[in-house]
Amino acid sequence: MKLLAEEGTQCAGADARPLPSIDFAGAWRERLIADNPKGRLDPEIDRQFWASIADDYDRQIEASGSCKRTLEMIVRWLRPTDTLLDVGAGTGRFTLPLAARVASVTALDDSPDMLRVLAQKIKAQGVSNVKLLYGAMESTPLPPHDVVLAAWSLYRQLDLPATLRRLAASARRLLIIVAGHPYTPPHRPLMEKIWALPPKDAFPAYLYILGVMHQIGLCTEAFVAREMHCHRAKTIESLARRLAPAHASQEEIRCFAALLRPQLQRIGKDYAYVQVGLAGLIVHRREDAIDLDLE
Ligand SMILES: C[S@@+](CC[C@H](N)C(=O)[O-])C[C@H]1O[C@@H](n2cnc3c(N)ncnc32)[C@H](O)[C@@H]1O
Repeated sequence: MKLLAEEGTQCAGADARPLPSIDFAGAWRERLIADNPKGRLDPEIDRQFWASIADDYDRQIEASGSCKRTLEMIVRWLRPTDTLLDVGAGTGRFTLPLAARVASVTALDDSPDMLRVLAQKIKAQGVSNVKLLYGAMESTPLPPHDVVLAAWSLYRQLDLPATLRRLAASARRLLIIVAGHPYTPPHRPLMEKIWALPPKDAFPAYLYILGVMHQIGLCTEAFVAREMHCHRAKTIESLARRLAPAHASQEEIRCFAALLRPQLQRIGKDYAYVQVGLAGLIVHRREDAIDLDLE
């Protein structure tokens, strides 16, 4: 990580060393480029990726963890009269539950396939206050909304300061970012052993975003939501199959099940495996917006 010139840094006391100013935007960019083996920084390749999993996204994301706590935290910051812009809305994991809490939601995404699935869900659930907007967050004109949310959707933003400025400019009251906080579930080392996976390199995405927001002058608050997902199954093997990679052989599943066994609990006749995940939430409140909670 590159350190910028140390002028203008703060000193907390006589013994304290000056805090170096870290180039968060540059470090974030380097990280995105290094993490790009499948080429998904290219919008077309990313769209193809989402096209290939759009119909299965809800099932996959549900199996990898919940977003219940994150939603609970976001709901606390919303008002029933708010208009909300959900940037990178996907199939509406946040759009749909939040639509029930605000006046209206605009769901922006540049994957037509993710928006197609969202449109089907809107119709099936009879939701009437969600509008879809097809386009990329970095180039589509963003209509002003009271609250702008970007949840798990900044992974292509090489020029993060520019995007964050854009998002903040379209937020009349609040900008909320949800991004990764590193956490390795206990079964991951077992998987690394069996399938020779590389150790997961924990990338504290939300800390980089927090750093960039600080450096471009957006005052922020940061929170971490602890999400829990309980996988339940009648047999240890079926539980192991659920957590294993799709290509796993029967023999590998058996081995994985044996290693997983000490980490399982019983709920009635079921075996249960608890997986915890952490989500970082960053909130920027516009200075001139009236905050009824702080009055
Ligand atoms: C990981 S999914 C998250 C979806 C949803 N926010 C959630 O948490 O379930 C990322 C979504 O962001 C969208 N996305 C990625 N980059 C985008 C961009 N530059 N502009 C608009 N949407 C984008 C993708 O198409 C995808 O639907």
